[in-house]
Amino acid sequence: MKIHLIAGARPNFLKLAPLYKELKKFPDLFQIKIIHTGQHYDLKMSGLFFKQLELPAPDLNLEAGSASHTVQTAKIMLAYEQVLLADKPDIVVVFGDVNSTIACALTAVKMGVKIAHVEAGLRSYDRSMPEEINRMLTDTITDFYFTPSQDADENLQKEGVASKKIFLVGNIMIDSLSTYLQKAQATSILEDLQLVDQPYLLVTMHRPANVDNADKLKQLFGILNELAQKCKVIFPVHPRTRSKIAAAGLTQKHENLILTEPLGYLEFLHLQMKAKGVITDSGGIQEETTYLQIPCLTLRDNTERPITIHSGTNQLLPFNHALIVEKAEAILSGNGKKGKIPPLWDGNTAERIVEILKNLEIE
Ligand code: UD1
Repeated sequence: MKIHLIAGARPNFLKLAPLYKELKKFPDLFQIKIIHTGQHYDLKMSGLFFKQLELPAPDLNLEAGSASHTVQTAKIMLAYEQVLLADKPDIVVVFGDVNSTIACALTAVKMGVKIAHVEAGLRSYDRSMPEEINRMLTDTITDFYFTPSQDADENLQKEGVASKKIFLVGNIMIDSLSTYLQKAQATSILEDLQLVDQPYLLVTMHRPANVDNADKLKQLFGILNELAQKCKVIFPVHPRTRSKIAAAGLTQKHENLILTEPLGYLEFLHLQMKAKGVITDSGGIQEETTYLQIPCLTLRDNTERPITIHSGTNQLLPFNHALIVEKAEAILSGNGKKGKIPPLWDGNTAERIVEILKNLEIE
């Protein structure tokens, strides 16, 4: 079976790595290529992840780069069509919900190539998020749905997907997380940021709805500055957010509010493990904190990962200064939300996917 694994943006790499390694155990059965779309291209957003996740360099890089959503998606499609013409795989595996996911899935379906979607079925039902559009459209044309949790299966069934095409395999990001916990703890990030034995909050923020609005960004800085009076606040800044911070002219900050470059996977994982709590708008971090049992405040109106709310340590919060400070203080005083690890978030998801791929009948 000839397989293309599609890597585009930072969260994809964590999902691709365990599947790549598991497939590689069966060289007689699977011939694998890693296709990088080039959606993320900075060393800290891409190359460092490949290195830390012990992945080989991609077989091909489509070098799409940054652009408007339409241009970025179209550039990936144009380049990937040429790849598919030259090298017809039996199946294209796409991950998550980024522009690269829909771009390659759409190209594949037009060329008659089967699609497997890892992390299928998640829905926020918020169409103002580009990721929701990517998820819905990808799942409309997918052939094999690998889902992380029961809610995803139910969403797909409601949309009319045949049950025999849905495989509840668990959360593949947890495969990476559980593999690299020890290595993460060996990083010197706590020493580097002078956080050893210090309580701190960890922050990430990069959604257009939160950071593309200068007023909201100013409000966020106000909140973080207030929290910095109580403990250190570590904020690794996504390139998109960095440019918005600069554009909004936000320079005033408390000395305990520490802005860093985007961090490596291992360093960030280490910071999550030892944080008192996390404030974020990321999808993946809602899941990682649930697994690590670290309280998480997600500054969004909705989530495509409701299991992190129902079972896990995650709480959704509106962009409200007083409320966010109140909930963060509760976390700092040991009253953060407690949770359970959802079923099948056990580090063996890639193995379950490969077992299914071994027996897949592709007409
Ligand atoms: C993308 C995903 C988002 C995911 C996030 C993880 C979509 C629609 N969004 O958002 O779901 O949570 O990745 O990071 O696919 N940039 C760099 N260097 C890079 C990459 C980006 O400087 O290596 C800057 C560019 O200015 C670019 C901006 O970041 O325009 C946004 O990048 P883009 O890939 O368009 O979206 P993300 O915000 O990263």
